[in-house]
Amino acid sequence: MSKLTSTTELENLRKTLIAARDSSKPCITVCSGTGCHAYGCERVTDAFRAEIKKKKLGRKVTVRTTGCHGFCERGPLVVIYPKKIFYQRVSIEDVSEIISQTIINGNLVERLLYVDPHTKERVVYEDDVPFYKKQKRLIFGNNGVIDPTCIDDYLVAEGYEALARVLNGMSPEEVIDTVKEANLRGRGGGGFPAGVKWGSCRKAKGDVKYVICNADEGDPGAYMDRSLLEGNPHSVLEGMIIGAYAIGSNQGYVYVRNEYPLAVHNLTIAIKQAEQYGLLGNNILGSGFSFKVKINRGGGAFVCGESSALTASLEGSVGEPRAKHIHTVESGLWDKPTNLNNVETWANVPLIISKGADWFKQIGTEGSKGTKIFSLVGKVNNTGLVEVPMGITLREIIYDIGGGIPAGRKFKAVQTGGPSGGCIPEKHLDLPVDFDRLSEVGSMMGSGGMIVMDERNCMVDVAKYFLNFLKDESCGKCTSCREGVERMHEILRDITSGKGKENDIELLEELGEVVAETSLCALGGTAPNPVLSTIRYFRDEYTTHIKGRRCPAGVCKELTRYVIDKEKCVGCGRCKVVCPSQAVTGKKKKLHKINQKKCVICGACFENCKFDAVKIA
Ligand SMILES: Cc1cc2nc3c(=O)[nH]c(=O)nc-3n(C[C@H](O)[C@H](O)[C@H](O)COP(=O)(O)O)c2cc1C
Ligand code: FES
Repeated sequence: MSKLTSTTELENLRKTLIAARDSSKPCITVCSGTGCHAYGCERVTDAFRAEIKKKKLGRKVTVRTTGCHGFCERGPLVVIYPKKIFYQRVSIEDVSEIISQTIINGNLVERLLYVDPHTKERVVYEDDVPFYKKQKRLIFGNNGVIDPTCIDDYLVAEGYEALARVLNGMSPEEVIDTVKEANLRGRGGGGFPAGVKWGSCRKAKGDVKYVICNADEGDPGAYMDRSLLEGNPHSVLEGMIIGAYAIGSNQGYVYVRNEYPLAVHNLTIAIKQAEQYGLLGNNILGSGFSFKVKINRGGGAFVCGESSALTASLEGSVGEPRAKHIHTVESGLWDKPTNLNNVETWANVPLIISKGADWFKQIGTEGSKGTKIFSLVGKVNNTGLVEVPMGITLREIIYDIGGGIPAGRKFKAVQTGGPSGGCIPEKHLDLPVDFDRLSEVGSMMGSGGMIVMDERNCMVDVAKYFLNFLKDESCGKCTSCREGVERMHEILRDITSGKGKENDIELLEELGEVVAETSLCALGGTAPNPVLSTIRYFRDEYTTHIKGRRCPAGVCKELTRYVIDKEKCVGCGRCKVVCPSQAVTGKKKKLHKINQKKCVICGACFENCKFDAVKIA
């Protein structure tokens, strides 16, 4: 790899790389995202390489490890180019058959194809899989195509083309105007317009300015930023280089969660390779502009993702937030003007520069342009990462892409916005998803977590779960968050254990308002959301817990009692077999009974009865 000294050299290299690749040659891509790693994708890749060697196909077939394809539920995923044949749940035992059948003979291995649960038909090509059909994978699409440890793959996919365009004659102001015009809003939670932030940072006084990428991603269940950094680190770096040029910064940092070793590994390689090509470092592509990037591993606390806490942590201090009367763009890292953006925000930048603000503005809603990546998890058939245009409805995400609720159960709510987001009920399923509409219904976009819940989730318990997380993660610096969130959690604990009091709901509402208004940072500012939104939409569930001493979903043990419905019980004995405390009695084909004194409320009978005969009393 030799240093490129001009944008012309970069374009020549790109042409050479494209010419050297035969697009008709089969390429077996094996997803190596974290989800597929858990399913053993490394062994699958090794098996492909060994089989190809054995069959002496090395010159005819390429094996490429890629980032996450999104459909993690079905991993390990293998997609065979150029046709994009989609194989799911591939194991090492399948490898020799894929080589002999698909690669050599051009036949499909039917059992590895995805079966559409609605039509029962097998789907051959990746783009036809319902999970992908309604997605718009602008940011995430290349994750499944390129090897993140190979910069040449990124160059072939038009990588660093936007940077070349910028250095070829765009002024910093023109770059900022383009991002402003596109109305790119920050994907890290708040949705603040990136172009406005860049403009303020450019105008801020100071010779030294910093650019930071926030890859802390502390939300439970969220892994969008991780997967982007693991699967396409150059897209984030390219965005940062362009941003640094626009703002007038020569030093950048990626603050990445310590628990993301693969992201750190792939990003380290990407930085090294970009430096070797002269795309990072001194005098980038001979333009006179210099920019370096360092990786900083996170402090291991959720609050370290908050901008001022992150800055403190980067400086080597305890990651605690500070009051925001002075903006980070004026005085951030080491008191210098600092521009902080989220991973996904940075990854949007090259696209906007390459394709233009008008193109970007065509996607999305009036106030929220472009796409958003969500991690779709919980009680939904197709869990994984989905990238959708802003304005798509929650119903489309959960049912058309997510495949609906497992086991034919009823949808109850979807929690968006991470731990301090809100729970949205069924009546809002047709809500178009964007920054403003989610706030209107008491939730928020947040960084993109989406947790689906069904009729067996207790909404008071859900609120308690998130408040438990937030009380543990509160840094304790301000009293209202430290004490207020703890107190709200205590009240929820009482309600879910049968000790709820008459006015607890009103007390939670009052406390929630105070905590939201008086906390130092947005952790406390948004912490009451899970409680307030569940009270707003599921007040009757709270009342049933407090006054009726019952948990209708059967989650809160102290408030649950299982009984057997004599009309429905057929005496199959399944409940008796699964009961760990011998609480169920009854003869074959006769009505069974539960001894309440022996019952430990594990729910095994309830979960396993095929006749719906076990009920919550
Ligand atoms: C408690 C807390 C945690 C946060 N964690 C993250 C995070 O993990 N990643 C992120 O990008 N933003 C996080 N944010 C938002 C950041 O403070 C900041 O607004 C964001 O990184 C700015 O980038 P953006 O404008 O591109 O969204 C968090 C905010 C709070 C209050
Ligand atoms: S990790 Fe393979 S599809 Fe997500």
